[in-house]
Amino acid sequence: MQKNPAHSRFPSLEALPALALPKQAPQALASDELCFALWDKYAMPGNIREHSLLVAKIAAALATRGQDLGLAINVDLVRQSALLHDLGKAYSLAYGGSHSMLGAGWVVAETGNYALAQGVLHHVHWPWPLPCGSQVCSLPLIVLYADKRAKHDQCVTLDERASDLLERYGHDQEARETMMRVFAEIKTLEQALADCLKWENLYADTFDSRGLVNRR
Ligand SMILES: [Fe+2]
Repeated sequence: MQKNPAHSRFPSLEALPALALPKQAPQALASDELCFALWDKYAMPGNIREHSLLVAKIAAALATRGQDLGLAINVDLVRQSALLHDLGKAYSLAYGGSHSMLGAGWVVAETGNYALAQGVLHHVHWPWPLPCGSQVCSLPLIVLYADKRAKHDQCVTLDERASDLLERYGHDQEARETMMRVFAEIKTLEQALADCLKWENLYADTFDSRGLVNRR
């Protein structure tokens, strides 16, 4: 069997980092520093850190616009949830399983903050109909959309991201059809966010000067 480099970070199931002591207050306030400490603890590789910084930048830009328009949205929480959205990726690449479920479980255990975990849990796919009106501008949907605009550490359009994923993972007809359906749903989300945030060229915006997150 070919050796998976991720196995050296988690040589066995028992090698998983111990979860934080359950002393933290429920719904504890998070911080960017806590997110970065969790990156270290869960051995997040450099390329996923770069990707997560970009997703956080895009998500923060969208949330800030929502806040400026008077919507009830917590920009810090959105940014921090985006920073953590791929926390479970390295482990699931090594051992399989759902990186979104694993990461969300770790985030709840580490922070006691369910809002942060919500963005992690739902960043791959939103299984329900989109909420109406301004409710679409919510933490999990913003993180999900931001992730679809980030190809590694590069901001791209949804079409570019879809063709990249089709090329890498569209191994059979069923996989391709599922991806096409998911991206059609994300395009609907993009339009709903653009309407809600009055952001005409959202589909092409590269967020260059918005939502900057301090690199470590
Ligand atoms: Fe991601």
